[in-house]
Amino acid sequence: MTAALPLHDYALLDDDACDARIVATKAKLGNRCIILGHHYQRNEVFKHADVFGDSLKLSREAAKSAAQYIVFCGVHFMAEVADILSRPDQIAILPDMAAGCSMADMANNVKVQQCWDELASIIDVNNSVTPVTYINSAADLKAFCGRHDGIVCTSSNAEKILNWSFAKREKVLFFPDQHLGRNTGYRMGIPLAQMVTWDFNKPQGGLSAQQIRDAKIILWKGHCSVHQAFKPEQIDSFRERYPETIVISHPEACFEVCQKSDYIGSTEMILKIVREAAPNTRWLVATELNLVNRLAEECRPQGKQVHFMAPTLSMCSTMFRTDPQHLAWVLDNLVSGHVVNQVSVPHDQAMLARIALDNMLKAS
Ligand code: 13P
Ligand code: SF4
Repeated sequence: MTAALPLHDYALLDDDACDARIVATKAKLGNRCIILGHHYQRNEVFKHADVFGDSLKLSREAAKSAAQYIVFCGVHFMAEVADILSRPDQIAILPDMAAGCSMADMANNVKVQQCWDELASIIDVNNSVTPVTYINSAADLKAFCGRHDGIVCTSSNAEKILNWSFAKREKVLFFPDQHLGRNTGYRMGIPLAQMVTWDFNKPQGGLSAQQIRDAKIILWKGHCSVHQAFKPEQIDSFRERYPETIVISHPEACFEVCQKSDYIGSTEMILKIVREAAPNTRWLVATELNLVNRLAEECRPQGKQVHFMAPTLSMCSTMFRTDPQHLAWVLDNLVSGHVVNQVSVPHDQAMLARIALDNMLKAS
């Protein structure tokens, strides 16, 4: 058998040449391959996706797909979810293995276990705490949640998942995005004082035993650097210029931004709300740049003005890593009988992570 095609042969191809190869190899692979694309993917890649969506929609898609190869144009944790939820004979592929998620990297296993042990010295964790992880986390954290009778959530089902969790136990330990946890908890009527932040670099999370006993939600101190760029002042100054503006934000944006927003929702929800809005409306959007640019373009014919909230162009640099060169490379290799960049979660970890993912799919 011939060797796998080397990536460096593709690095020098221009986007048009890659496009032609992607279209040709997709036709050859037919229904043996499905390409899933997250809404933050750049246009040059996004246009080749068979299905696009937010994390919840794409994880459902991975679970039901019959394709032998699931090529995930997204980030590493998404391809892990595809691997965990698909059949053992299916193969999940991430075109660029360096496409990670900085938020997911903020909750590593050692610090998570240390947090659990420290909490256990103060409260009865097994009977009073449900661990919940945002899907933007590594498989080992999902496995931790599965092992402790916990659950996964996404930005579109977080409220349902918190309700599920509180029906089981009185407290939630929420990983790794403090903002999604806080914004969701507040919408559900939990006061800010009962949502404390666990600083994983401090002993006992920087909290007193009393704060831990009184908390409803303990929020891991993680965040998304892309959504961190959105500030409440940007909303104020934009509204001064254009008072008619409607503001819509992803729940990974901070509490102050979400409080000033008219709508909060996942990527899929943001698209739906703006698309269905009345013509000639003006929108200020707090989420990743590629999505906002595409939406602005799409809505222009209806007279809708769609603006990006931050003054600097903050895009997700790891989502951006997937380019037509990497996509052409993995697909050409599949046609020539080679699997490159397979994402494979170790069996024991996958079994536990699956418990937490299945809990989510059932609860939402
Ligand atoms: P969605 O599930 O809303 O698409 O969010 C995924 C993500 O990574 C947002 O930063
Ligand atoms: Fe991770 Fe933020 Fe990129 Fe989403 S936008 S993948 S949370 S770094």
